Amino acid sequence: MIKKLKAPSTLSGKLTLPGDKSISHRAVIFNGIARGESKIENFPSGEDCWTTVACMRSMGVKIKSSEGKTDDGKTLVISGVGEEGLKEPGEALDAKNSGTTMRLLAGLLASQPFLSIITGDKSLRSRPMERIIKPLRAMGAEIYSKGNNSKAPLIINGKQLQGITYSLPIASAQVKSALILAALHAKGTTILVEPSQSRDHTERLIKNMGGQIEFGNLITTITPQNSPLKSLDICIPGDISSASYWLVAGAIHPNARIKLSNVGVNPSRTGIIDVLQKMGANIKIENQRWEKGEPIADILVKTSKLRGVQIGGDLIPRIIDEIPIITVAASVAQTGTVIKDAAELRFKETDRITTTAQELSKMGASIEELSNGMIIKGGTQLQGTECDSKGDHRLAMTLGIAALVAKGETIIHNAEAVNISYSTFWQDMETLCPS
Ligand code: S3P
Repeated sequence: MIKKLKAPSTLSGKLTLPGDKSISHRAVIFNGIARGESKIENFPSGEDCWTTVACMRSMGVKIKSSEGKTDDGKTLVISGVGEEGLKEPGEALDAKNSGTTMRLLAGLLASQPFLSIITGDKSLRSRPMERIIKPLRAMGAEIYSKGNNSKAPLIINGKQLQGITYSLPIASAQVKSALILAALHAKGTTILVEPSQSRDHTERLIKNMGGQIEFGNLITTITPQNSPLKSLDICIPGDISSASYWLVAGAIHPNARIKLSNVGVNPSRTGIIDVLQKMGANIKIENQRWEKGEPIADILVKTSKLRGVQIGGDLIPRIIDEIPIITVAASVAQTGTVIKDAAELRFKETDRITTTAQELSKMGASIEELSNGMIIKGGTQLQGTECDSKGDHRLAMTLGIAALVAKGETIIHNAEAVNISYSTFWQDMETLCPS
């Protein structure tokens, strides 16, 4: 799909974001293995989360839903398998574009008493899996990967696992969550140590579902238990990663006022607010409340004058998915920005250092690639031109927001990539722009 956009004169209105992608994957997987029935509200229509639903269904989990793919906020009813356990899937599980599906399921399947294969699309089959294979093997897992180079498809022959003490070399919630899932069914305690805080939705949900898990100060301790997790009803908070596009749009557009309702504001995810506020953005957080251990709030953003910032260190895992959109804010800010310690961006759905720099440069941004980040000059008037999402959902949305402040028309190829995490993105953009 090709999207043609011109900068609107104003950008205003109120949006409710689709449910958080990370929490949604976890709610389906954990409730799928739990004892009892659960109701999940505000489940997003993005493809990644439905990939997890399909995988859990093919292992015998009953999940009822309205499956039309046109609107967000669906309700799922999940009958957890509990003591009965998952069933051997008849075919290879297809994680498609979703790293979270593949890595979390690998951790779960490592201890199941059957053989499974997990594959994915071309992008996912090129992403590193060594990071889960190595520690899972240390727990006793039998996992084979393609060409011995730790890429999917993964073949997993489920085994009785042993608890381990493991220091994660990189801050990754997918790796941490895979190991927590493996640890739930291992013999003995597992202790995981992170180099810096990555998102902690797994820990919060497992605790709420009766799992024996302690976490904080970068250490997670899991004690396996004989009985399954207890099912948990949850209304999924709005996705702050999806909100980040409107936060940047509201801050950089000359005539903007946007209110975002019900956004998840878990501190392990709010780096985008910290960065934008440090750049001088006019952002207000209101009406904070709780949903099953996850903080939620409404966020108001208005036209702002931004300046550049230095970004790196412990902040990076808290903004890892938001760095492409931050580069748009940085390009139009009055002074330059340097992003460091973000080499992980090279292992996402695309190499996001290269793809972001290349595509925004076509629009006139001045971005120098570093091995682990970017130097962005700032002070740029972006120009509409032809650009391409390269099939990466976050890049498609980043280019869409850049178009809202560019001079002339922007033409985005492969704009349908937004469907991976935020299928109503283009409709929401229309809601904010006057016709
Ligand atoms: C996610 C963790 C992050 C993030 C991804 C979702 C998760 O990946 O980039 O979009 O749900 O656990 P890493 O764990 O590889 O950093």
